[in-house]
Amino acid sequence: MPSKLTRSFPPDFVWGAATASYQIEGAAKEDGRGESVWDRFCATPGKVRNADSGAIACDFYHRYRDDIALMRELGLDAFRFSIAWPRILPEGRGKVNQKGLDFYDRLVDELLASGIAPFVTLFHWDTPQVLEDAGGWPSRDIVGAFEEYVETVAGRLGDRVGHWITHNEPWVVSWVGHGWGHHAPGRTSDADALATAHHLLLSHGRAVEVLRRLAPSSQVGITLNLDHPYPRSQEPEDVRAARWVDGLHNRWFLDPLFRGSYPDDMAEAWGESMPEIRDDDLESIAAPIDFLGVNNYTSPLVAADEDGGRSRIVRRLDADRTDMGWEVVPDGLRDLLVRLHQDYQPPAIYVTENGAAFPDVRGHDGSVHDPERQSYLEGYLDAAAGALAEDVPLRGYFAWSLLDNFEWAWGYWKRFGLIYVDYATLDRIPKGSFYWYRDFIAGQRARSEAA
Ligand code: FCB
Repeated sequence: MPSKLTRSFPPDFVWGAATASYQIEGAAKEDGRGESVWDRFCATPGKVRNADSGAIACDFYHRYRDDIALMRELGLDAFRFSIAWPRILPEGRGKVNQKGLDFYDRLVDELLASGIAPFVTLFHWDTPQVLEDAGGWPSRDIVGAFEEYVETVAGRLGDRVGHWITHNEPWVVSWVGHGWGHHAPGRTSDADALATAHHLLLSHGRAVEVLRRLAPSSQVGITLNLDHPYPRSQEPEDVRAARWVDGLHNRWFLDPLFRGSYPDDMAEAWGESMPEIRDDDLESIAAPIDFLGVNNYTSPLVAADEDGGRSRIVRRLDADRTDMGWEVVPDGLRDLLVRLHQDYQPPAIYVTENGAAFPDVRGHDGSVHDPERQSYLEGYLDAAAGALAEDVPLRGYFAWSLLDNFEWAWGYWKRFGLIYVDYATLDRIPKGSFYWYRDFIAGQRARSEAA
């Protein structure tokens, strides 16, 4: 297959792979872990495909050493994982579960001993169920609980973790989890979604303060799911519709983080649904960060909605699609990164997730051949290199995901891994894309050593 990659990367570029606690760990009832909103959601009939759950997942909790050996084989510089809040504070606040902390302590040490830098996400969606019962993210009280959790984790790991990501994709938690109910905790209210977004942002700002205090030499950032909405035409209605999508997905989070204000056009549209915002909130939210994490998979084509809605997504007839139905739009990543650099000037950017689901199967010889994933990664990496050529301070790239895993409401049906997981035996089988990424990383290193 001819390579789509026409450019190279700087020598200190960080090559990584990403995961999240509930999607890989399993061991849901072990060593004192409390219930999370995702345990509850999975146990609720009709919420998750095939009634799947993360109870066992990839059993990373027990197999992390073998998985780190695979990371070494891949040649990773960095591994992004998240910490399960209910392992650390099973009751939400108060009593700390040392065994939960011990697990992450061992994981971080094993990574460091392997020369792999831990990029730790503090919240990748597994809220303790007790906190949900007490009002959850729509209630401001959760901000203090999150601060307590971050203090506990930073107190234990802050001496060894160099990169912290406070939250993963606050838009998804807010809208998919609280506005539309497709994710845990399954709420369906605009006001809950907007209050959740505000409290996630505020708790991010507070977490930045905590980390500056307890882990002063580390780098701190947040990961947003961002895309580059293209208007279908330059007609004012289509441009307005694309701007709405940009406001909903991107500006609602970027503006407070980098400018200390919510975008006026959107705040006006939300009207009565807006949450309570106290005097110093926006100042806390806009605390300077060291990097922005960007998760990007696709970029929508947007048109005016003739049926009276604010926007409508138009299917591109000529685009390849992944198993999620997501269109493969590598230029969207480049355009997005260039725009972030121009409009918001984050000091550094990492692509913290990018990848593709395909319906992988094992062949008769036991191997997994996934040329579509290789092609997807090549296209997006070339786009990332294109952004570098336009002076975007892009510092690293994390493929989603190291392993096939529990893909939220889709259960185990959707496979995103560089490594295939046979869920009956929990065997790991590196896919073709794993070997491709390994050789690609090695090639980048050889090139920079030769230079
Ligand atoms: C992102 C999530 C990640 C994974 C990918 C496919 O929205 O952050 O956990 O599910 O999508």
